[in-house]
Amino acid sequence: MTRPIVDLTDPDRFVRQEHHAMLAWLRENDPVHWHETGQDGAGFWALTGYEDISQVYLDHTGFSSESGPMLGGSFRSEKDPSAGLMMVATDLPRHRMIRQQLHWAFSQDMLRKVAEQVTRLVTAALERALADGGCDFSTDVATELPAGAVMAITGVSYQDAHELIGMTRRMIGFRDPHFGDPAEDERLVLAMTQADIFEFFAEVLRARRKNPGPDLVSRLLKAEMNGRAWTEDEILYNCMNIAVGGNETSSYTACSGLEALIGHPGQYAELRQEPRLLDSAVNEILRWSSTNLYVRRGALRDVEIGGRMIRSGDVVTLWNASANRDAKQFTDPETFDLARTPNRHLSYGAGLHRCIGAMLAQTELSVLFRALADLPVTAALSGPVQRLRSNFINGTVSLPVTFHGLGGTGGRSR
Ligand code: HEM
Repeated sequence: MTRPIVDLTDPDRFVRQEHHAMLAWLRENDPVHWHETGQDGAGFWALTGYEDISQVYLDHTGFSSESGPMLGGSFRSEKDPSAGLMMVATDLPRHRMIRQQLHWAFSQDMLRKVAEQVTRLVTAALERALADGGCDFSTDVATELPAGAVMAITGVSYQDAHELIGMTRRMIGFRDPHFGDPAEDERLVLAMTQADIFEFFAEVLRARRKNPGPDLVSRLLKAEMNGRAWTEDEILYNCMNIAVGGNETSSYTACSGLEALIGHPGQYAELRQEPRLLDSAVNEILRWSSTNLYVRRGALRDVEIGGRMIRSGDVVTLWNASANRDAKQFTDPETFDLARTPNRHLSYGAGLHRCIGAMLAQTELSVLFRALADLPVTAALSGPVQRLRSNFINGTVSLPVTFHGLGGTGGRSR
């Protein structure tokens, strides 16, 4: 394999889908790679092997989450301002206290409510798409997944849920011209969008103080942590964490999943014929898309990994997108195989910060892919796919599709 020019910070390389070649080369030749240029000025480590990445995910005393999960994210300083307040940017022991109280939003009861909402919204969106002869799946269907989840968890209306999704799309797309003026300072766009999301939840909080309901914000207003009430900042940061953590990840995974099915017609036909494939199919879609391309950690002490010495204070990135294609872990990793089992992908991370919304995402994605498999028609691309300009989230901002009759291939007999 010839060495590609490696730059994991350039979002255009990801738009062009060149990251697979860069990551494959690193995994093979330099799995614990020192990346000279960073988004924050200084360099960082890029880990690409499944085992090495798992080691860091599970080492909660050696590596900190307090700089947040993204390079160049938030307002830069050694620690993120949300450190110790927002779950994803908090280390033990506070992390456990916050997480315990947020579990309610991911309970069995909530999964049932989310499944109901998402089923209703996805069914209506697919009916509209069929009636119109096609749709932009990214904006017209995929966003109904987080809309259903946001409505169930926070009790806001459909319109408000979509307003919030517009903001989280802008926030995650802060380097993408679809979501902002490229002439503006990226970090300013990010900071301003974060402020808008804060204001959105501050308004929900004011409303719930007056009129509490069976929703997360009302619950956190009554909750106690370490013998005291949650502060307003803690409530707002963690609502933002759930919204930003859940909105784009699930909807962009839905897009990658449909695009992969369209690109693999044999697999698409099998999913339509064999409902029992659904669980393994959702996991293969998660592995294949690796929507959360990497997460960031900070070394708290000197640690040797793969023969390289990572020094205390160094920034470390864990490339889920690479771990998920590691041939030491997955047989034929470059094959999209809906029946793949076992499939221990790292798309949700691992260890104490492993995605708290994983079951919720599985529920949303299962509802969607079940509904797509049950349609009497199949989707096909009807225009160019446009990718999110980001090295952090593998997203599809436009996925134009049309629907075709079966023409005798597949289709479940009912
Ligand atoms: C396909 C969908 C999803 C993917 C790929 C995904 C990915 C991830 C990853 C990789 C992490 C670990 C971050 C780290 O270690 O620093 C994480 C954490 C998290 N995710 Fe997800 N996620 C998804 C869906 C969701 C949903 C639906 C929600 C909420 C509605 C959510 C909320 C969160 C939160 C709050 C955390 C922080 C957990 C903690 O720090 O303990 N995610 N997610």
